Amino acid sequence: MMPPDTPFITRQQGVLHVEDLALPEVARAFGTPCHVYSHAALGANLRDFQAALDAHPVGAGGLVCYAVKANSNLAILNLFARMGAGFDIVSGGELARVLAAGGDAGKVVFSGVGKSHAEIHAALMADILCFNVESAAELERIDEIAGTLGKRAPISLRVNPDVDPMTHPYIATGLSTAKFGVPIDAALPLYERAARLPHVHVRGVDCHIGSQILDPAPFMEALERLIVLLDALEKRGITVEHLDLGGGLGIAYRQGERAPEISACLLPLFDRLRDRKLKVILEPGRRLVGQAGLLLTRVEYLKPGSTGNFAIVDAAMNDLLRPALYGAWHEIVAVAPKAGRPKVIYDVVGPICESGDFLGQKRALAIDPGDLLAILSTGAYGMAMSSNYNTRPRAMEILVQGNRAHAIRRREKAADLYALECLPPLASTPAPPAAPVDGMDKPIASQ
Ligand code: LLP
Repeated sequence: MMPPDTPFITRQQGVLHVEDLALPEVARAFGTPCHVYSHAALGANLRDFQAALDAHPVGAGGLVCYAVKANSNLAILNLFARMGAGFDIVSGGELARVLAAGGDAGKVVFSGVGKSHAEIHAALMADILCFNVESAAELERIDEIAGTLGKRAPISLRVNPDVDPMTHPYIATGLSTAKFGVPIDAALPLYERAARLPHVHVRGVDCHIGSQILDPAPFMEALERLIVLLDALEKRGITVEHLDLGGGLGIAYRQGERAPEISACLLPLFDRLRDRKLKVILEPGRRLVGQAGLLLTRVEYLKPGSTGNFAIVDAAMNDLLRPALYGAWHEIVAVAPKAGRPKVIYDVVGPICESGDFLGQKRALAIDPGDLLAILSTGAYGMAMSSNYNTRPRAMEILVQGNRAHAIRRREKAADLYALECLPPLASTPAPPAAPVDGMDKPIASQ
């Protein structure tokens, strides 16, 4: 069983390959668990978005700003930067990653409801393309900080159009009940305020309605509302250069699920904008990286339970949180299936001490301890949402190109996990680290 759109993850003589590399070889060379990505799939996905923008130049063209949060490995950011992409960031940390990966700050848009003083300062110093401003208070803060630096901050308002993206409630962002953006009814007066502020420069309009959206209709609904706003801005003499339509286009996680084609989803939107001289910015995350990656794991134990069987594997919810957090479905397949063996139903679980630690439930598999499993479609929000819970070192990341595997993040060691911790002076055994961690050895006065 494979999801429908993973042309770079195939079976060859029955064995699962990423591009031309057999996954048992990856496991032998690097161990498990590991996140494995296809270089060709990443490139093809970005090219699909760029081709859609190129095929229908909307006024002044367009820019794909990859949503870094989906997968922020430097090698992936570097690949996209070399292909001409910009980036959508939501923290100072993501800005630092983009710059470290060779990304162009002039193609960075900065979203997020809680930009700190330090983050705004860093983004202004880097000369990013645009701040996607999410509240009146943030607008004032940006104006003030830009003023102290003698700069004018490029801004868009992130408009909340009150559209239901019909996705999981945790990742729906464009409803009026969400914390995100400026309610569309409040956007016009706030733009008027922005136009009067001395240290901001109105550059665009921005909107992101949610994630894992499989029905294109809500994108069009949101666009119709944005067009009303664009007209109103024009009437008041407020000119914008770009329209940022956000990300959110979903992928097929499950056999039988269908995700709309990128061009089929985008071209009707671009058509609707045909008469306007607006550059279009897109912020896709999942659609660029999701199907390009899988999580390779090994079966440790098979354990019969009173109501079902468990396949206990060496990956866990700390490596892939989506099933535990959203009840998300990822296909789980044997890397080298055993022909003719009857399948048994398993809950595929990790070693973590929580009953929520499952990667898949009620899966039919013919497996033995020691076998390799692939958890599919994990390139987006897999490694990016991983943690060290239970002091589990994070999995390694491998980028496959043809029949070659590049380690793009080494496996953490237990000592990496407590390297930033130190003992207070009173503790005697074991000896505290020689050098105290900067800034941590300060007494805090009690109230
Ligand atoms: N732009 C903004 C402002 C966003 O907040 C997001 C995602 C994106 C773009 C990219 O959306 P995408 O194209 O990836 O759908 N952890 C969740 C997804 C959270 C998405 C958060 N924002 C998951 O695993 O499904």
